[in-house]
Amino acid sequence: MTKVDLSRRALLGICAAGVAAPALAASKTKGRRDFPGAFLWGSATAAHQVEGNNVASDMWLLEHVKPTLFAEPSGDACDSLHRWAQDLDLVKALGLNAYRFGIEWARIEPEPGQFSTAMLDHYGRMIDGCLQRGLAPIVTFSHFSVPRWFAGQGHFQSPDGADLFARFCDRAMRHLGDRIAYAVTLNEPNVSALLRFVALPPAFMGGVKAMLAAAAKASGRPAFASALFSEQDVTSAMVAAHIKAYQAIKALRPALPVGVGLAVEDDQLVGEDNSYRAAKRRAVYEPWFDVTRTHADFIGVQNYTRRRYDTRGLVPPPAGAPMASDGREIYPASLGNSVRYAHQGTGKPVLITESGIAASDDALRQAYIPQSLRGLKVVMDEGVPVLGYTHWSLLDNFEWISGYGPQFGLVSVDRKSFVRQAKPSARILGAIAQSGMLSWDNDL
Ligand code: FCB
Repeated sequence: MTKVDLSRRALLGICAAGVAAPALAASKTKGRRDFPGAFLWGSATAAHQVEGNNVASDMWLLEHVKPTLFAEPSGDACDSLHRWAQDLDLVKALGLNAYRFGIEWARIEPEPGQFSTAMLDHYGRMIDGCLQRGLAPIVTFSHFSVPRWFAGQGHFQSPDGADLFARFCDRAMRHLGDRIAYAVTLNEPNVSALLRFVALPPAFMGGVKAMLAAAAKASGRPAFASALFSEQDVTSAMVAAHIKAYQAIKALRPALPVGVGLAVEDDQLVGEDNSYRAAKRRAVYEPWFDVTRTHADFIGVQNYTRRRYDTRGLVPPPAGAPMASDGREIYPASLGNSVRYAHQGTGKPVLITESGIAASDDALRQAYIPQSLRGLKVVMDEGVPVLGYTHWSLLDNFEWISGYGPQFGLVSVDRKSFVRQAKPSARILGAIAQSGMLSWDNDL
């Protein structure tokens, strides 16, 4: 009996065997599993990042004003608006059982109070498409982008921001809610607070100001604001929006698990002084942990790296540490650590709504996935309840201000033909998902 781990050689063999390979791995596990059978294994996308031509959204305007922080506009993105069935086929062929995706508010309510039945039907077909393929639909109600009119009236900070979002959630739920498996109200509503604790290039906030001013001018709406680019701390407005959305969703389907997807970094101390890290935790996580205790069924954790802090603030990664192409340290143990921290802070089960790395060299992702999952298993063995893992991202997609530069996908997308091609890392995740194991015996 030869014990085979996820060595590069073994994995390339799996890849060569094509998409059916994960099922082969599964047949050899004889019931021993590292992860529970009911675990959700998925990949994640966001509507604006993959659909294309999201012209009624705030992001589309921000991408096109001058000056803009966006390296390039989203354009057709991955054309997933039309190719969503292909995307779902891929998720299924890889051996996963869940798909996290967003419904785009700007398409469903392109003008205030004008709801598009056709677009709701479109997302209904996607949800049905998931169910037909045995994929649990994990649906995000707002993933950074909002209708342009909503941004123009001051975004979630406007006096009726939370109510307008709850109205949208109510409409979407009436159309789609009976078939959703998990609902995520907001994606990383703590990101504006978080950005204050990472080292942003000094010109960044100046660029934000100029871009928002240009968008205010172009739209004739002086209050124009954005979720990704916020000059003030918007935590209380985002918390209020989450609570109202949670209530609207639960009012229609009390049994549907509802949560929020938080950006959670693995914050580590260098030395004894906890004051800077404690300040970050108070500002970035604790308000959300509080609300999650009363107004969420699970906590969505989105983790990409660790950060180290001393008395004065952020300490750079150790010399020689492996780095992802977006400048973040590759530190696979951060996933388990952030999951443990989020559970300790909330007492709620964790759903990993995002985890991944920016890497054009897929070998880095091939190593990162099993390594980060190994750390996750340690935390689960400690007793932390984890519902599932959705890898960011299914596709190489539009990464906000970085445009199409950073590649997070399990699957590459040709920018002209939109042809999708699964990478070896996708098969690795599929093999783990199918077998429930981080390694397996290949000659049982
Ligand atoms: C997260 C976002 C997601 C994606 C990844 C790389 O913060 O939620 O949309 O851009 O980062």
